[in-house]
Amino acid sequence: MTRFFLGITGASGHVYARTLLRTLLTAGHSVDLVLTAAGAQVLSHELGIEVEADGRLAPGALETLAGPGAAAVNSWAPDQVGAPAASGTTQLAAVMLVPCSMGTLARVAAGFSSNLVERAADVALKEGRPLLLVPRETPLSEIHLENMLRLKRLGATIMPAMPGWYQHPAGLQQLVNSLVGKMLDSLGVAHQLCAGWEELSEPPSEAGCEPQWPPAKTAGKPAPEKSGGERRR
Ligand SMILES: Cc1cc2nc3c(=O)[nH]c(=O)nc-3n(C[C@H](O)[C@H](O)[C@H](O)COP(=O)(O)O)c2cc1C
Repeated sequence: MTRFFLGITGASGHVYARTLLRTLLTAGHSVDLVLTAAGAQVLSHELGIEVEADGRLAPGALETLAGPGAAAVNSWAPDQVGAPAASGTTQLAAVMLVPCSMGTLARVAAGFSSNLVERAADVALKEGRPLLLVPRETPLSEIHLENMLRLKRLGATIMPAMPGWYQHPAGLQQLVNSLVGKMLDSLGVAHQLCAGWEELSEPPSEAGCEPQWPPAKTAGKPAPEKSGGERRR
């Protein structure tokens, strides 16, 4: 059993973290799991899973996220900076921040270590162990790009949440699988999530994504009235 660290931050894309976590557990690995405070908010927003007041996932919520392998997850609070992952003496196969907000990315690039997620990433850099960051933001500012370049030069793998379409995904989960498959490839972890280039099927006669005209509005809550300075994500 290999031990991994998964930090889930407040960027969008928690579906990637869920598939990554479940795939590692199914393969028999263990995972130290931490959500930042913003990560807890986005987890609730995107997947409807609530985090306890102490910042950890209660057993039921953990099972909803991690599936049947949840027993091999150690759930830590972000302020538990004395947890094993905060020390270089703990042999972690990789530290993965999925998804990684631009805030966490900037703090890791600057060596802040203000919570357990940032500290685990800092330890991976100082120990020369694999550090995988999956940022999600668009468009990217110069600050974002400079921080990513700095981390890449320090040895991190930067894998923006940009799933490829060349595998002819038949649905959203296949797009998720293709990106998580690349994450696992980069860490040398075997998986069956997606086909390699030489196994690709022919393009489907009906692509999984057909334009509708006139475009149908995305289902969901009605959009709030926009004030002039409202922030876009
Ligand atoms: C619903 C929602 C979606 C967000 N999506 C992103 C995102 O995709 N990328 C990003 O960098 N920040 C995003 N943010 C903002 C971060 O959560 C915010 O900057 C936060 O302070 C990051 O904290 P953390 O790095 O400690 O997790 C989002 C926030 C919310 C509430």
